[in-house]
This record gives sequence, C-alpha cells and structure tokens, in this order.
Amino acid sequence: MSKHVLGIDIGGTGIKGAVVDVETGALLTERHRIPTPQPATPQAVAQTVKQLVAHLNWKGPVGCTFPAVVQHGVTLSAANVDNAWIGANAEKLLEDATGLDVIVLNDADAAALGEVAFGAGKGHQGLVLMLTFGTGIGSGLILDGKLVPNTELGHLELGGHEVEPWASGKAKEEQELGFKRWTKRVNRYLKHLEMLFTPDLFIIGGGISKDWSKFGDMLEVKAEIVPAVLRNNAGIVGAALAAQAVRDGKIGAINSDLMPTSLPSSLEPQVVKASTPKPRASRVKAAQTDTMPSSEAVTSESKPDLALKTPSSSELKPQKPSKIP
Ligand code: BGC
Repeated sequence: MSKHVLGIDIGGTGIKGAVVDVETGALLTERHRIPTPQPATPQAVAQTVKQLVAHLNWKGPVGCTFPAVVQHGVTLSAANVDNAWIGANAEKLLEDATGLDVIVLNDADAAALGEVAFGAGKGHQGLVLMLTFGTGIGSGLILDGKLVPNTELGHLELGGHEVEPWASGKAKEEQELGFKRWTKRVNRYLKHLEMLFTPDLFIIGGGISKDWSKFGDMLEVKAEIVPAVLRNNAGIVGAALAAQAVRDGKIGAINSDLMPTSLPSSLEPQVVKASTPKPRASRVKAAQTDTMPSSEAVTSESKPDLALKTPSSSELKPQKPSKIP
C-alpha cells in the first residue's frame, strides 16, 4: 500500500505543501502556497503551517524543510530567517500547532534527498553534491544514497569572503549580474568545492535552475553537472521521504546520523542517540561588495564554521574587483 506524507517547504517568501506518495515521489494533491508571514517568527510560521495543513485537510504525518541548520528538530542558525529561530524547537512548535507528527530538516538536505530518490540524481551512487541557488546557497551532500546533513557549504569562504552573498540567486539579482558574470563566480565556487570534495555528480537547484539553458553550458567542473528536475517540488518530496523514514523506524532522528535516501522500503535501520544541540552563532553579515575572492585557496581562517562568524570591518570594506582567473 502506498504511503502518504504531507511535505512542507518553508522558505523566506512562501510556505508550500502537498501530500506526497513516498513510494513514487508523486504529488497527490495540489501544491498549496501561503506567503511566509513577516516577520517570520517561529509562532507566526507555525500558525501558517497550521493553516496549510487545514487547507489540505491533512491528518497524517508531516515532513517539513527549514532554511537553516536543523538538528534533532531544533533550528540552530538563522542566515536568512528571523533570529528568534536560533535554538527554537521547530519540531515541537509545529507539532503543537498542528497536532500532527512532524519532522523538520534543512531545506537543501531535503531537496537533495528528493532529487536523489526521484530526480536528477536517481540511481547515482558515489558522492552527489546538490547546491541550491536562491536567497541563500544551500547544500545537500549524499554519499552512496545517504545524506550527510547540515553541510552549509554556502557559507564557505573564498579569499576571505563568504560565498553566499556573492554568488546566490539573490546576489545575482541585487547586484544586477548577467548570467556570464554570475556564472564566473559560480565556477570559482564549484571548482573550490570540487577540490575539497571531488563529487561524482553536482546537481544545481534553487530558483536559478529554471534558467539552466542560460548558464549550464558555461559551468566548468570535471564532474558531471546537471540541473535539478523536481524544481520547486524537491523540498516537499524530500521532506516527506525523511518523515516516512523516521516513521518506519529506519532512523531515530534525522540530521544526527547519515540519512537514508532510497525508497523507505529499502532503508537499513539506524539507531541515533539524541543529544541536546547548542545554538550556533546568528546570521552572517558578509561582504556585499563586488570583490572577487582572491585566487588563493581558502584562507587559514576558512572552515565551514567560519561562515557563522561575523567578518571584521576590514573584511566588509569594498575592495577593487580582481580579475577572474
Ligand atoms: C542557510 C542554509 C540553507 C540555505 C538555502 C543558507 O543561508 O544557512 O541552511 O539551506 O540558505 O536556503
């Protein structure tokens, strides 16, 4: 019998949801969208999720994405969302608001799960790195069908600057970058990621992926690189898959262990010990200049966690754009 789960994708501008058949990845209802309340405080978002659940008249399990680090249902960062989310127990909030069983995971992790199960990464073994280019840059890393959660590679630094505010879809729009110029930035980033991870496949998702025909040919990596195919539905489908895996007892909690991505019926049981997570630092105020990260490799300061530090004022100063190598 088919298993049905409500998948919800919480974003900065919209909260979208649909009931998903987790055996096929098919959406079984309309995809309903409600604008994200502003300010997007935990209470306001929880009420909107409740509204969405009521609109779809849903009474079963719920899988939900969130654009931040999520560990054991607790949101630990807030790069593009209200700071009140740092340390909030998102799962409990949404369960209390809806009266349903809810699991919450990072949005790019969910999108990667959806794409690997039913989309551009279907059937791929080895290391798959999905990147979403939208308001932020999200990353989902999947090794042999299992997710390594919360990689947060959009916050990597290149040449002393954080990549997200320099190469996201939002940066392209706000800094009025044409596809050629934006793609040069993305190539710098992708090459760096390729040096660090050597993935077998890159999947490019997020709002920008609908314009693949305008930049796909200009991307320069050794690995295969493809656009996401589930488009806006990847997060909804991936969230539903994750919720089903938890329900099936295949994993005790997501984001604390490797996350199975194949169809739930093929998942291996995994036991996860929950621990109390500590909130990370708040949002990053990174340089919004047109500065090109220098061609040096990552600075000695650069490690993923540094994305969550506040750059010094000299880092925030506009610098002369350097040449793209
Ligand atoms: C957040 C990530 C998220 C990405 C895409 C980043 O700013 O830190 O958690 O996946 O945006 O929404």
